[in-house]
Amino acid sequence: MRLDGKVAIITGGSRGIGFETAKIFSKNGATVVITSKNVDQLENASNQLTDVFPISADITKEEEVEKVVEKTVEKFGRLDILVNNAGVLPKIKQLHEISELEWNEVLNVNLNGQFRFTKFSIPYLQKTSGTIVNVSSDAGLKAYEGFNADAYSASKAALIALTKCWSLEYAKNKIRVNCVCPGVVDTDMTKPFLKTGKDREFMDNDHPIGRIGTPEDVAKSILFLASEDSSWTTGAIFAVDGGQSTK
Ligand SMILES: NC(=O)c1ccc[n+]([C@@H]2O[C@H](COP(=O)([O-])OP(=O)(O)OC[C@H]3O[C@@H](n4cnc5c(N)ncnc54)[C@H](OP(=O)(O)O)[C@@H]3O)[C@@H](O)[C@H]2O)c1
Repeated sequence: MRLDGKVAIITGGSRGIGFETAKIFSKNGATVVITSKNVDQLENASNQLTDVFPISADITKEEEVEKVVEKTVEKFGRLDILVNNAGVLPKIKQLHEISELEWNEVLNVNLNGQFRFTKFSIPYLQKTSGTIVNVSSDAGLKAYEGFNADAYSASKAALIALTKCWSLEYAKNKIRVNCVCPGVVDTDMTKPFLKTGKDREFMDNDHPIGRIGTPEDVAKSILFLASEDSSWTTGAIFAVDGGQSTK
């Protein structure tokens, strides 16, 4: 699953799944731009990797997103792969307890952010017959009792729908668009759910395969979907979840 000569942008590349994806992409020959909001965290991440370059941007700001895409193409001459990975998980509250502001903040990152990066990347991906991998979630595939993060679920379900729309629309340009849906993965995002040994045991057992995921589990699937090894796959909604979504 080599990516030699390919130029990739990975949003939310400073940590967690995005960072691990940057690592596996660079190991397999890609030149990678990682982007996220926190500048120090982003530079620290890129310093740990080879052929990985940081460009900070707040995904909620259209002009900053446009700059990341423009600077990438200016510096490396092309764009082949976009990984729409940046995301936030809000505090778990019931729907009637959240404000419209809280609702919109989640959608502005998890959904509108993916729209912004995709919109500015498409003209360059059309030139390279490039590929997009969206990072959705099992929470976009099914409901979980007690997991009241409705704006999050809505954003992730919307990304699944957009994967299908974009894959159909841009197939004529040979742009492939696919989506991964992770179960619970051990990252900063899930720390609040994994505070104790008991929490961890519960979460491990909740996944049919007997454990929660690592960022590497997801990164390997993203690499497959971004590489020519999946050359006839587009519009796929790919569960990477230890079997969670089968229940
Ligand atoms: N972990 C899981 O169990 C799990 C399960 C299913 C799906 N996912 C999805 O996988 C993706 C990655 O999750 P993760 O667990 O790796 O999360 P994470 O460790 O919390 O990392 C989130 C990344 O998104 C970036 N980000 C957040 N808000 C941003 C903004 N306004 N502008 C730019 N960048 C922003 C963060 O950058 P900063 O460092 O600048 O904040 C960080 O790089 C997310 O879309 C998440 O919903 C995760």
